[in-house]
Amino acid sequence: MATLIPVGIAGLGRYLPERRLTNLDLEKVVDTSDAWIQQRTGISERRIAAGDQVTSTLALNAARQALDDAKMSPEEIDVVVCATVTGDQSFPATACRLGHDLGAKNAGGFDLGAACSGFVFGSQVAAGFIQSGQFRNVLVVGAEVLSRILDYKDRNTCVLFGDGAGAAVFTSLDRAGRGEFLGGSISMEGGAEDVLSQPAGGSRHPATAESVAQGLHYMKMGGTKVYKFAVRVFAELVKGVIDKYGRDQIGVIVPHQVNQRIIESAMEQLDMPMDMVFTNIDRYGNTSAASVPIALREAYDAGRFQKGKLIVCPAFGAGMAWGHILLRW
Ligand code: UT7
Repeated sequence: MATLIPVGIAGLGRYLPERRLTNLDLEKVVDTSDAWIQQRTGISERRIAAGDQVTSTLALNAARQALDDAKMSPEEIDVVVCATVTGDQSFPATACRLGHDLGAKNAGGFDLGAACSGFVFGSQVAAGFIQSGQFRNVLVVGAEVLSRILDYKDRNTCVLFGDGAGAAVFTSLDRAGRGEFLGGSISMEGGAEDVLSQPAGGSRHPATAESVAQGLHYMKMGGTKVYKFAVRVFAELVKGVIDKYGRDQIGVIVPHQVNQRIIESAMEQLDMPMDMVFTNIDRYGNTSAASVPIALREAYDAGRFQKGKLIVCPAFGAGMAWGHILLRW
């Protein structure tokens, strides 16, 4: 087998829309309370895209910051991968609009639909492209405008999610000089269409006046099932890294920002202290595919990446689909 080219992350970026939707704001539109939301989820507020912003707008801002951080021009990007479940439209791919707006004139691109695991799956696709020598520089963006598929009458879902985007530029480790990509995993257990989904708008339930009247274009979720699943796979994914590398090698865990209680339960199962995990869910809620790259950029800014230590990013969500990436800074 040909030698694989080592891969690194040259730059990270994030973008959050300005508008804040607080728990107190939500108390006014749905039967909930700040105390309930804080206690059950750890969320205080989330960001909401402005009326003239779409997913590619958020993605563009995050991508620009990542390219800036990587000291790379848009023309150098070979592939744009946009992980999202709330693309600008079903098709064409949001990556095409993003690449155009960014000025990535030499890039091809596509969207990747794996809900909350989208960024960690996309990162592995990017790493594979670079390792094989097929492409040199790959931009992976996780971007969501979930507020457009939320029913603000459904307290089971509307309190949990927010809008945002995060991005990473993958290239050879030689060029990146940091953020070594050590591997990852991609898993799924299908047949869970009723647990967490947007029921209508696809071939299963095409959009009709009735589907809209029934609110089937909004996200639906069986929260408790997702909760149990998330705690289990979070702990399993991190345990896999501990078994291979040793607990003392882990510098920080930067997980999908799903729910503070889920993260705390998993850390307790792992017998690891909460200061080993980076969270920002209190400020942004769950931003699906955007959550890991936003958290990565913020953990980096906060000085949480220790030289030579591992960064573990577990993610899990609709599908059910889950996996992780492992980096060394
Ligand atoms: O990326 C993956 C995406 N999915 C998720 O992040 C969801 C994961 N699941 C969760 O985060 C939790 O299951 C929730 C936060 C959604 C719910 O927390 P829970 O502790 O599992 O509560 P529950 O569903 O068991 O509901 C407890 C009670 C119920 O009332 P009754 O039946 O006991 O009277 C709910 O109706 O809380 C009620 N409830 C609420 N009350 C106030 C549910 N949502 C709300 C709300 N405000 N927003």
